Amino acid sequence: MDQLEELKQFTTERFHNHKAHPPRHALPDVPVKLRTQLNLFLPDHEMHAPAVWFEFKRWVDRTYRAYLKEAHGVRNVNELEVLARCIPVCYQKGMRAQPHYHHTGDHVLCLYLDCGNDRIPPEDRDWTVGDGELLLQDPRPMAGFPFWEKVRYIETFPGLVVLHPSRIWHETNPFNAPSGQRTLLVVTLRVASHNYTELYTRL
Ligand SMILES: [Fe+2]
Repeated sequence: MDQLEELKQFTTERFHNHKAHPPRHALPDVPVKLRTQLNLFLPDHEMHAPAVWFEFKRWVDRTYRAYLKEAHGVRNVNELEVLARCIPVCYQKGMRAQPHYHHTGDHVLCLYLDCGNDRIPPEDRDWTVGDGELLLQDPRPMAGFPFWEKVRYIETFPGLVVLHPSRIWHETNPFNAPSGQRTLLVVTLRVASHNYTELYTRL
């Protein structure tokens, strides 16, 4: 819990730093508010990080490689080149993540650091309102099942880790705890090397 608290303080501080100093990007002018275009694994941010940050980063690396081995059967996970981007998320009451997927990556890892205070237990909640549950959409075609039977609800709490394919559409219910804030770290992960690359050449 001490480590989560240290990570939470760094996450909150960097989130507000980003809001106060939004960077410029070479993106086309599109009518979308891109609120979190940053990577806390870059030196500009890591120069402010506590020691636990680097432990977190090594843990992400180990966890992702173990996931690739177990979930995807990749035998030489330790030889893969993996790229990562870490995004701080801080929500106040009423805020939610709109439906999205994570492009340019293979997987997404979320570490929940804070989910607010005095929350209503899941069994007593109005399920049409909820409180910050992560909703993962089933990527399979609907066939005979309606969508409401194809949504995976995940109750969130500090210390929870979720690792899912980046192509999965997902969103969250609004953060509805009576007080406190919702803080998490999101890491988008990309496998940047592949086996049998010697079979390919540039066009
Ligand atoms: Fe996401």
